[in-house]
Amino acid sequence: VKISVLVSGRGTNLQSVIDAIECGEIQNAEITCVVSDKEEAFALKRAEKHGITGIFVNPAEFSSRQEYDDKLLEILKEKETDLVLLAGYLRIISASLIDAYKNRIINIHPSLLPSFKGLNAQKQAIDYGVKFTGCTVHFVEPDLDAGPIIMQKIIPVLENDTADTLAERLLVEENKAYREVVKLFVDGKLEVDGRSVKIKK
Ligand code: GRF
Repeated sequence: VKISVLVSGRGTNLQSVIDAIECGEIQNAEITCVVSDKEEAFALKRAEKHGITGIFVNPAEFSSRQEYDDKLLEILKEKETDLVLLAGYLRIISASLIDAYKNRIINIHPSLLPSFKGLNAQKQAIDYGVKFTGCTVHFVEPDLDAGPIIMQKIIPVLENDTADTLAERLLVEENKAYREVVKLFVDGKLEVDGRSVKIKK
């Protein structure tokens, strides 16, 4: 399974998948490229360190999201991509790209969806006063943070938590969830039935 990863920043979720592949936890998979919309993304350095092609696609060079995503699609095809991972990728993806990779684009979001969609989900959870939150790994659909849910992990919100301390504890669960889901996908264990994703035994 050939994996392409779209990133914008730090890349801890990318790192988690790289590590899982390198240690043999995920087999029959390789990351063939990491694409960033930000030149300075640390995720690109992580890719380079592990001998993975990193590509910066500059949004300033495209006049519309459609054109930008057409370029992405060209790269994904050229790399013979089977699975696309969004790992801290901050751009919205166009419907044509989603159609081209139906149920083959996966995202991770730092809340228990459908609560707290969009940016700053950890702060939204703190501000709302929920006692538990978590992360959600899901297939990507045109509506933001709304596709079929593959896996969720839950943590308590502590009384002294700030958005930052919560985000830090949540990240540990995110990193675990993402590699587990990628393994399930690569092993052909995910079955999508409408909104419901089942894990084959
Ligand atoms: C994570 O919190 C992820 O849930 C969200 O963006 C953040 C990316 O972190 N979509 P990283 O770049 O993988 O470290």
